[in-house]
Amino acid sequence: MTKLIEMKAIKKSFNIGKENELEILRGIDLYVNEGEFISIVGQSGSGKSTLMNILGLLDRQTSGEYILNGVNIKTLKDKDLSSYRSKKIGFVFQNFNLIPRSNAQKNVELPMLYAKVSAKERKERAVELLKSVDVGDRLNHNPSELSGGQKQRVAIARAMANDPDIILADEPTGALDSETGRQVMDLFHRLNRDEKRTIIIITHNMDLAEEADRMYNMKDGRLKEA
Ligand SMILES: Nc1ncnc2c1ncn2[C@@H]1O[C@H](COP(=O)(O)OP(=O)(O)OP(=O)(O)O)[C@@H](O)[C@H]1O
Ligand SMILES: [Mg+2]
Repeated sequence: MTKLIEMKAIKKSFNIGKENELEILRGIDLYVNEGEFISIVGQSGSGKSTLMNILGLLDRQTSGEYILNGVNIKTLKDKDLSSYRSKKIGFVFQNFNLIPRSNAQKNVELPMLYAKVSAKERKERAVELLKSVDVGDRLNHNPSELSGGQKQRVAIARAMANDPDIILADEPTGALDSETGRQVMDLFHRLNRDEKRTIIIITHNMDLAEEADRMYNMKDGRLKEA
């Protein structure tokens, strides 16, 4: 099996050198094979989102090695890190993070606009993606005109816009009722199974976490396979 992600002894501190310095990640070892569905659980404040930000190249570790798709991310400059991120990784968040004054279609087009995809292709792909997550009849709706489940579907379509290898989802069902959360989870399973996306999901819901191929538990800044 090909390792898509490998982390060794990852540490992350905030406010380094100041009196309020905090070590949040205290030596994380993690691997994710291509095509795996991984869940991460752990108490509030244990460092899950901090780890997700590093996994998603939104932040850098303080020390340790992070190899993504064979590339040690230490060797990437910041601008290479962001272009690598926009090509490889799609994000889904608890509170959707959609642009409020843009409709569903424009929200999905945005990552493609940054990736310099032509207007015609952006539109076609956005419509196709929104149809595939069952919100094809809400293309012109702004986020405030969508239900929570619909908003999260739009966010998942947006995460897929640039055809990422990996989808990182931080509490994607946290703001949804259990039935809507179930449907969103089924969508992740479908993307994993049918579209071979590698998925890493953070959740407080043990039942959902146990559906993953493997589960990690974050405790006091350390990660254990559960
Ligand atoms: N930029 C930052 N500067 C200083 N401290 C931070 C920063 N980001 C996070 N922290 C601290 O790191 C700790 C872990 O935060 P993190 O958001 O990773 O937790 P979490 O496991 O995702 O929690 P939750 O389940 O509530 O989302 C917290 O104590 C938080 O205050
Ligand atoms: Mg968090």
